[in-house]
Amino acid sequence: MADIPAASAAPASSAPDLSTLTAAVSSATLSDDGSATLSRRGEHGANTFQLPEGLKRLLANMYDPATNPQGIINAGIADNSLCRDELLRYLLAPHRLQLSPADLTYADRFTTSTRLLEAIAKLFNEYSPDWPDTTHSPRPRKEVTVDHIAIASGATGILDELFWNLCDEGDGVLLSTPYYNAFDNDLTSRAKAQVVPVHLPLPDVAGERLDKTAFARETVAAYEAAYERAAKQGVRVRALLLCNPHNPTGTIIPRETVIALARLAAKRKMHFVSDEIYARSCFTTTDVPDPAVFHSILSVDVDKECGLDPAYVHVVTSASKDFAVNGFRLGVLVSQHNPALLRAMASVGLLSQSASPAASLWHTWLCDESFLRWYLAENRRRLARAYEYTVEWARLAGVPYYPSNAGFFVMLDFSAKIDITPGMDEKEAARREEEFVDRLLDCGVFVAPGAQYHHPKKGWFRFTFSMQPKTLKLALERTEEALRLDKSVEKNRPLLSLDSGGTPAPDAGKRQSWIQKLVG
Ligand SMILES: Cc1ncc(COP(=O)(O)O)c(C=O)c1O
Repeated sequence: MADIPAASAAPASSAPDLSTLTAAVSSATLSDDGSATLSRRGEHGANTFQLPEGLKRLLANMYDPATNPQGIINAGIADNSLCRDELLRYLLAPHRLQLSPADLTYADRFTTSTRLLEAIAKLFNEYSPDWPDTTHSPRPRKEVTVDHIAIASGATGILDELFWNLCDEGDGVLLSTPYYNAFDNDLTSRAKAQVVPVHLPLPDVAGERLDKTAFARETVAAYEAAYERAAKQGVRVRALLLCNPHNPTGTIIPRETVIALARLAAKRKMHFVSDEIYARSCFTTTDVPDPAVFHSILSVDVDKECGLDPAYVHVVTSASKDFAVNGFRLGVLVSQHNPALLRAMASVGLLSQSASPAASLWHTWLCDESFLRWYLAENRRRLARAYEYTVEWARLAGVPYYPSNAGFFVMLDFSAKIDITPGMDEKEAARREEEFVDRLLDCGVFVAPGAQYHHPKKGWFRFTFSMQPKTLKLALERTEEALRLDKSVEKNRPLLSLDSGGTPAPDAGKRQSWIQKLVG
């Protein structure tokens, strides 16, 4: 399941489908609603799957600048619309969608086409994660080939299939808190693995860099402790899941921490799953002028440096985040030394093959070096600007935050503003956090509460800044209204300008389709 299953840019007219879903889900808890007709598995799903109340309110009334300006802005979803205009213009240009007769039948690899796999392999092999700005972030040690890649419906589909294949029911997966909320569903819904939470020591002082604190190498001891606790309770821990760059904190995990974790995986014979869905969305800010260089686990000689059998290393990514097209539903697994896993992925992958139009569009884009170059650099530049704009608001509004420099969000500490005090009773603090979510929704914005991410401290919220400037401004205005600030910060600031300093997208209409090339 994606971070939050809603698209903020979707017109309000698309909302009824989703509200129908939420209504169906709510009624599923009643005993006479058909649950008894289901298998035990189906009944369990029907009776346990519940969308949070706040999310239901959001889905039923989604903001759209044209059709529903009073609707609720979703600043709690991992969506990036900063380059959306250019992307739409690019993808809708004549002949961009290159469908051939072969695309109207099953793909030649069933889960997708060979040509998309070739384009993804090229992306890994030829363009370092920080390309084209710098090339400090290394490429994979071993060339990625089409046979190392599996495709599914988003990273969500990949995670579901991967943990189905790596874990048996009840097996544990080490995962540090706070973590991306949908991992809960992805790992447990079908695979029936269980999350073994690792409580990383978060610094008390907002403003401290997490790559130097919570994600420093020494914190690997917390993983060891969690492993041992789980083992004592009879849980077989089969994997360690690292989200790097990290959702929800927007931190790049330093290379030495990655190495130390891979060593732990080797010691305990665990799979090392690296979710690198934000690898190409790292940026430099005034808060973090010297960010850690992103190192994919694929760039590490795990055998030599960590004693880890490379058959245990798997990388997850997707078109959703670095390419800002959540709607394409194209998730990617790269596993370079485990052909059995790739066969197992193919077997379950047959159950959810990708659709050829999305694959065709992503393939065209990945093969268009000039547009790819523009997009990846411009996207990072815009992410940095939107981040700076948002944290300036936070500073002016007196809201502490942890600096971030990757992904689409920043963690804001609203605790003092919503009367959560240190040492307060946990239940009371949780109630105040929930109450504030309601207030945010009343004011027309959703910001994701830390509870959603198993954040150890109440009052922290994940705010998505990768929005169009007008929407971002309105989201901040609505947030400060919910915070009941004495004086508005946002009303007195100019709009974020995305244009200055950037470059225009290469002409969207220049390229020719394969048919035109064929017939000259
Ligand atoms: C860390 C992480 N992994 C996986 C996903 C799922 O992405 P997809 O849309 O490709 O299913 C998300 C979505 O927010 C994410 O943030």
